[in-house]
Amino acid sequence: MTEDRDSHLDTRIVHAGLDPHAHHGIVNPPVYHASTILKPTLAEWEASNRAGYQGYSYGRSGTPTSRAFETAMEQLYHCDTAIAVPSGLAAIALALIGLTKAGDHVLVTDSAYYPTRRLCNTVLARYGVTATYYDPLLGAGIADLIQDNTSLVITESPGSVTFEIQDIPAIVAAAHARGAKVMIDNTWATAVHFNPFVHGVDVVVEAATKYVAGHSDVMVGVTLAGPELGPRLRSLANNLGYCCGPDDLYLALRGLRTISVRLARQQETGLLLARWFSARGEVARVLHPALPDDPGHVLWRRDFCGACGLFSVVSEPLPEAAGAAFVDGLKLFGLGASWGGYESLVMPSDPRKIRSATSWSEPGPLLRFHAGLEDPEDLIADLEAGFIRLNAAL
Ligand SMILES: Cc1ncc(COP(=O)(O)O)c(C=O)c1O
Repeated sequence: MTEDRDSHLDTRIVHAGLDPHAHHGIVNPPVYHASTILKPTLAEWEASNRAGYQGYSYGRSGTPTSRAFETAMEQLYHCDTAIAVPSGLAAIALALIGLTKAGDHVLVTDSAYYPTRRLCNTVLARYGVTATYYDPLLGAGIADLIQDNTSLVITESPGSVTFEIQDIPAIVAAAHARGAKVMIDNTWATAVHFNPFVHGVDVVVEAATKYVAGHSDVMVGVTLAGPELGPRLRSLANNLGYCCGPDDLYLALRGLRTISVRLARQQETGLLLARWFSARGEVARVLHPALPDDPGHVLWRRDFCGACGLFSVVSEPLPEAAGAAFVDGLKLFGLGASWGGYESLVMPSDPRKIRSATSWSEPGPLLRFHAGLEDPEDLIADLEAGFIRLNAAL
């Protein structure tokens, strides 16, 4: 397979991890369903049990299908190791468990995806790892929270409900000065819009369930790291028995090929909707870092090269029934968790319930929107009808 790390990202997205002539010229890597993998001789069996063996020894430890997905992700992020795992949350768990031990302390952004917080407060706590939550806007000020036993700073930029952009280079500098590692959940930006390794981040996780797979039908995650941490994380994934179904990996790799065109369109529609919401009197605030008046806009412009279709809208205070009238009649925005697929979504969230280091004082309820690939005019008509229902219920 040609190792192509030098061409432009869009070219790598199309060709990364492909090796058609190893498979009769078939363009996409075949789906290998495997548990047992036979060895032709005793010598090879023994070689396959030695550390550092490069072939395939057992389905759980990898197949050409999982390797194709991982190679593609390594090439997109320009990093040494990508480990395919069964979900985005599994990718987070692998990084957290791999980078901590009993007695350690972790710093967690207050804007983190809620299950990341739950993992820290339950699983890590049970194994003697303490967590302190910090204001996502702290930047270099995080230095004051780093303790001698802080092994990891957990970031998510932007936060996937409240969309604060973190000053990742400043956080990395402060963490590294005290010997702590930095992990980022890069699901919102993907490799297309932000490469955290360029900014010194040690471990990147991405829920490939979202934009990589892109069709709302697959659960896959990926944990990525450089040469220092990659082998340790791969060995942990092996010890934990983490592996992914080959059909899901195939679909994730298939989705990856179109990620940049989907993102370009979803970014455009997302911004169009965000601007449209900003002009509505019913709306108190739109949380989208690509809007020039967003508090994170300057950092977003400095570090990112694009946005996806996910953003939030905070309304003016309103009765519950009016909010329900808006959401319940939407025809094109499905009410559901997740995002990154081809379809538009809406989901309510209450940041007050998932924060501890900072307070949330926005006046009205928050709705998170995901812009899909529908015609933006139809989406706006759907939302417009929602506001008519909302106002009628006031
Ligand atoms: C920011 C973020 N990270 C991670 C995840 C977890 O991904 P998965 O659903 O594949 O476990 C999600 C899922 O919604 C998410 O929004």
